[in-house]
Amino acid sequence: MSDGLQSIDNALVTGGAGFIGSNLAEYLVNFCTVTVYDNLSSGTRDHVPDEAKIVEADLNQTDQLTTAVKNADVVFHHAAQVSVAQSVEAPTSSHSVNLDPSLEILEAARSSGTRVVFASSAAIYGHPEYTPIDETHPKQPSSPYGLEKLTVDHYCKLYHDLYDVEAVALRYFNVYGPRQQGGDYSGVISIFRDQARTGDDITIEGDGEQTRDFIHVDDIVQANLLAATSDAAVGESFNIGTGDSITIRELAETIQAATETDSNIVHVDPREGDIEESRADITKAREDLGFEPEHAIQDGLDRYLSQESN
Ligand code: UD1
Repeated sequence: MSDGLQSIDNALVTGGAGFIGSNLAEYLVNFCTVTVYDNLSSGTRDHVPDEAKIVEADLNQTDQLTTAVKNADVVFHHAAQVSVAQSVEAPTSSHSVNLDPSLEILEAARSSGTRVVFASSAAIYGHPEYTPIDETHPKQPSSPYGLEKLTVDHYCKLYHDLYDVEAVALRYFNVYGPRQQGGDYSGVISIFRDQARTGDDITIEGDGEQTRDFIHVDDIVQANLLAATSDAAVGESFNIGTGDSITIRELAETIQAATETDSNIVHVDPREGDIEESRADITKAREDLGFEPEHAIQDGLDRYLSQESN
């Protein structure tokens, strides 16, 4: 992996103080100069590696954003309004964070030749018509957040086709790992982990038969590096998951057992509009990028539960 990275001198990570961005920045500082662009609204300065430079600015500070992109060989665009619930509550503010600045990044890249790796999402597919979900699956996002991700995902392809911008979209499934924030965007794994640690009930929403494809953030970092360095990535979009799924009940039981907690597993009301089944078909990322997730769920969970800086 480090071989391809030699072609990158300067990397820009928007959202580099957040969950996925800071894990990525931490890896990248070993290979190149890293600039983190973040307004620290939900991310934390502590998560930014010491070696990285921080530009503390909003995404709508277009001049600063454009300059930062133009100074980079690759921009990893992870800064976003990341809450699905918040996008449903306040679509216009979600739109203004997730759409226009992404277009500005592509526009800056158009003149500078900077490669753009965009953090897209499985949310673009909405309720799956079949699983595993491949990249050609119908796109019927069920939230403004999903539609915003889909729009930028399509813009990436269009900027490649129209202007030769080296843009790549990575469609993440359910990501977990150290530094996943709390609050309404906290993923179920960090919620169950916290419940197990504090001895509170582990709350399964619904019957627990719903499935998800959970991927450790370290594998997401590897996917980003491949997207940044592979010729085959350009102008393409890729599902990034493990290709396997487990039920939420299995997840609860695994965390309960691994943490040896006294917490009980309880069932609460199902989430309105919840997706029943989700699993990525990662054949395209495997074949075109050489992507191979290293952490199956059991191993990834063991790793996560033992990681101190969570
Ligand atoms: C995730 C993403 C979302 C993305 C979507 C794409 C996260 C946090 N969210 O949503 O951005 O749009 O994938 O498909 O990664 N659950 C419980 N108990 C809890 C919390 C959750 O049983 O205390 C259940 C939920 O009802 C759901 C499952 O766990 O069935 C996963 O929930 P969550 O981690 O919030 O992720 P998604 O809803 O899949």
